[in-house]
Amino acid sequence: MVANSAGDGATPAAAGVAPSVPGAAMTGTPLLQLRGVGKAFGPVQALTGIDLDIPAGQVTALVGDNGAGKTTLIKCITGIHEPSSGQLIWNGRPVHLHSPKDASNLGIAAVYQDLALADNLDIVQNMLLGHEKTHFGMLDEISMELIAKQTLRDLSVTTVRSIRQPVGSLSGGQRQAVAVAKAVMQEARLVIMDEPTAALGVTQTELVLDLITTLASRGHAVLVVSHNLMDVFRVADRIAVLYLGRLAAVGPASGFDSQSVVEYMTTGSASRYGNGSGTASAASTGAGSGSEGRQT
Ligand SMILES: Nc1ncnc2c1ncn2[C@@H]1O[C@H](COP(=O)(O)OP(=O)(O)O)[C@@H](O)[C@H]1O
Ligand SMILES: [Mg+2]
Repeated sequence: MVANSAGDGATPAAAGVAPSVPGAAMTGTPLLQLRGVGKAFGPVQALTGIDLDIPAGQVTALVGDNGAGKTTLIKCITGIHEPSSGQLIWNGRPVHLHSPKDASNLGIAAVYQDLALADNLDIVQNMLLGHEKTHFGMLDEISMELIAKQTLRDLSVTTVRSIRQPVGSLSGGQRQAVAVAKAVMQEARLVIMDEPTAALGVTQTELVLDLITTLASRGHAVLVVSHNLMDVFRVADRIAVLYLGRLAAVGPASGFDSQSVVEYMTTGSASRYGNGSGTASAASTGAGSGSEGRQT
């Protein structure tokens, strides 16, 4: 069995590739393992046989063309969909997620750009919504402010002028920072972001990319869906490519370049890598052939 988080059927060479995070849990069981996960919507087979490890302390980027199954995969992990087949293994134990609440109870949080924040409430109120601190029956504003401030500081979010400003007045990047901080405060161990930088300007994108890196360096597992390969290569420790509902390739980011990722996204295989036969590529890509593959 793949006890090594570089597994996923990548060749053993993957184990030798150091994570960007010192001391990241490369030796233990990956925080989340997907084994043979499939999802059908009536006649539409959206996902087939997905084997994917999502380790703590690392950023895993999930890429794929429109309709490849990225959102469906995320929804299976966040308890919105139940897989039609296969298994989710959390911390080494098989789990069944029947609802988003099941996922969030485990410590799986999805952060959407414009979801789950109340524009008219301020940052502190948003971050503690549903988890308010009280003192003798009164809201303990001071403790709440302190804890919110500390969490933002831990995530190196420094661009927010006042934590008492309404969330509606924040930029897109700042809103996501607040949403991530909220997830972290509620003890998310796996943070999932679907297209976090879509619709963000340059500065805000930087803020969010930094935040993603910081999250992983603080030991969280991060799963990011992105169309932007520049962003992917900036933050990803690992890359997983979906093609027509199957995992076409997965491995350390260092085993890919933009061209190979695009090829996997558009054809399901990469001509310069492995034997180019689509079905074998998941096993042969990324890690093993990677270092040769990066010659230019
Ligand atoms: N609720 C649903 N009912 C039927 N088909 C769906 C549903 N959700 C997704 N699909 C189909 O599953 C496939 C994968 O979709 P999706 O996961 O949204 O892809 P991506 O996020 O990569 O663009 C597509 O063919 C899509 O039409
Ligand atoms: Mg999608």
